[in-house]
Amino acid sequence: MAQHPLIEAFQHAGQGHVFAFFDQLDAAAQQRLLAEAAEVDLGEFARLSRTLLTPAAGGGSGVTGLTPAPYEPRPENGGDPAAWAAARVAGEEALRAGRVAVFTVAGGQGTRLGFDGPKGTFPVTPVKEKTLFQVFAEKIAAAGRRFGRPLHWFIMTSHANHAATEAFFAGHDYFGLGAGHVHLFRQGRMPAAGHDGKILLAAKDALALAPDGHGGSLRALDRSGSLDLMAQAGADTISYFQVDNPLVRCVDAEFIGWHLLCGAEMSAKATPKTGPGEKVGHFCLQDGRLTVVEYTDLPVALQRETEPDGQLRYRAGSIGIHVFDREFVRRMACGGDGAAMPFHRADKKVPCLDAAGRLVKPAAPNGVKFELFVFDALPSARRAVVIETRRADDFSPVKNATGEDSPATCRADQLRQWVRWLRAAGAEVPADATGLPPFALEVSPLFGYDEDTFAASWRRLAVRPPVTAGLYLA
Ligand code: UTP
Repeated sequence: MAQHPLIEAFQHAGQGHVFAFFDQLDAAAQQRLLAEAAEVDLGEFARLSRTLLTPAAGGGSGVTGLTPAPYEPRPENGGDPAAWAAARVAGEEALRAGRVAVFTVAGGQGTRLGFDGPKGTFPVTPVKEKTLFQVFAEKIAAAGRRFGRPLHWFIMTSHANHAATEAFFAGHDYFGLGAGHVHLFRQGRMPAAGHDGKILLAAKDALALAPDGHGGSLRALDRSGSLDLMAQAGADTISYFQVDNPLVRCVDAEFIGWHLLCGAEMSAKATPKTGPGEKVGHFCLQDGRLTVVEYTDLPVALQRETEPDGQLRYRAGSIGIHVFDREFVRRMACGGDGAAMPFHRADKKVPCLDAAGRLVKPAAPNGVKFELFVFDALPSARRAVVIETRRADDFSPVKNATGEDSPATCRADQLRQWVRWLRAAGAEVPADATGLPPFALEVSPLFGYDEDTFAASWRRLAVRPPVTAGLYLA
């Protein structure tokens, strides 16, 4: 009997073992396996095996010829106030013209947090216990109202969490944004491989597939038709952020304006590192191109270098907040005009079948996963700009269950932000030396999503409530 052409292609590529148990499967299981196999780009996979699975590959290579990348400092740190004001005006104009779409990547596995469910459904606010998705939805709704143009919100999910994410949004009536303005789509997957380059099986009818990283979002935006949808809606500028950071100014007129006024194809926010050891990527120039070098790849000596005034030389840390030109994303997705993003390898424990078809749960890393990182698009941008942001106003991710970057630190950072806004508006609020109040309070993004919008709403209140435990401003 003639072989299925896909099976032949896998055999030809040295991956025929993927179908070792095919004859033991019923028809439905065979179809499942074939469908998963069809997701694999065998040519791409062979290239990755050659380049990333050789003993010399990965870790610390290719980081020569670096200098710190320039960035636009905030006005309080020496930046030009007029340039920042012009950026804000340009960004607000773009928002009023409906040129901006919002984009959240939410396809991660969230293993460190260990929460059972899509990370966006994690309750994060101190009083109302709003989920991450609700916080973003309210910020997006508030910006839409302010600029008179509802924004389209694109959310990248994974195969593992797509259905649950969809059900969550439907169950919450899309938080009032309207189903037509919230667009969910799945990211791509990559097969995990053993160290010998053989694709691993998760079951007799399933490959060991893993999400292809947040960098996979660019091709997923294209493949899902999201870029076309944006074009139809008149949006040419994409505001990108990650699902774990409720502090993010996800519709930031200043940032959008800097991006547009610089004619950038991709832009990034940087925050000064808290110290040489902080585990964030570094904005660098390499051969004149903007690039992000991970903390694992930047030599420790460089991470410790200081300027004469004592500041770290490589201080501009990457926090996963970007603006993209829509057509740049399309170019990246198609790999046109030399646009390319490298895959990174991560050594992991991958449960998989052994040659006899038994499931093995390894105690040590037995395989390799391949991921794309979104910041790797920066060197392909014809123009790119990095602006400084205040960490306290933009970045407090929930990554770990406890300790740093946990729900507890994020809750405290939200509280501190609201205390700052309240005090700036003239309210009296008790707080410790770090700015943390002795009780929980909460501000809805619909009341204020930054210091200015908060102050405007606060001024409009006929009766200003005392700032006490449990205060909720909505
Ligand atoms: P992280 O790098 O923190 O990974 O993702 P993670 O998978 O969420 O968490 P851990 O490492 O397993 O604990 C940063 C952002 O990128 C998204 C995540 O959802 C998060 O918003 N992401 C990551 C994707 O959308 N897809 C991926 O394949 C990886």
